[in-house]
Amino acid sequence: MYDIVILTGAGVSAESGLGTFRDKDGLWTKYDLSEVATPEGFAADPAKVHGFYNARRANALDAGPNAAHHALARLQAARPGEVLIVTQNVDDLHERAGSTRDIIHMHGALTGALCASCGHRWPAPREMHPTDPCPACTRPHTRPDIVWFGEMPYRMDEIYAALSACGLFVAIGTSGQVYPAAGFVQEARAAGIETLEINLEPSDGASLFHRAVHGPATQTVPDWVGTLL
Ligand code: APR
Repeated sequence: MYDIVILTGAGVSAESGLGTFRDKDGLWTKYDLSEVATPEGFAADPAKVHGFYNARRANALDAGPNAAHHALARLQAARPGEVLIVTQNVDDLHERAGSTRDIIHMHGALTGALCASCGHRWPAPREMHPTDPCPACTRPHTRPDIVWFGEMPYRMDEIYAALSACGLFVAIGTSGQVYPAAGFVQEARAAGIETLEINLEPSDGASLFHRAVHGPATQTVPDWVGTLL
């Protein structure tokens, strides 16, 4: 089991230039979530949904990991097998910083493609289109391998098992507004586990954490990792 479980959100990628969702100018202020991040939206207009994720995939590929991603990768390297990153983010900046094992993308990943018919998964091309045939069953029902609202996040059993047995739960760069991730701090506290929030400003769940550090992740995360190494 892991000593430390770290939940990351859009705030850890904000200083890499990737938008958050609920900040001023966040993604959900520019797009209607129900049209681009729900199964119903995909069924109604798959071209619009693919266009939305093609743009986010391009942004993520053009962005680079920042000091916060690198600091977390350093922590994992220094304590192999002891630090689990559970990310809500669908970018691959943690991986590109060096966090290639002990990482769970609970909301899926822009680098993944999924067939809505046969369930086949393969590495997503830079751009996806509704007419793309599935490499396995050839049906034109391909989608980004992203967990939409109303769908079950991935690997929840592993996440809850790690949460209930770790020594420290840390939430970094997340507003604490979307469940089940927003409930992880309560799970940890119920198990008597120390909890820490590292965020630009107090999140909606700030009062649930034992400790909090506020400021930009590229400063606060390396500082925190420095206290452990
Ligand atoms: N450093 C640290 N924290 C930051 C920074 C920064 N530079 N910039 C923004 N933040 C914080 C904000 O204060 C906010 O609390 O990051 C958080 C971003 O919150 P959201 O935009 O709600 O993103 P997130 O919590 O990851 O959303 C969770 O909602 O829409 C769904 O699936 C989507 O995974 C996403 C989930």
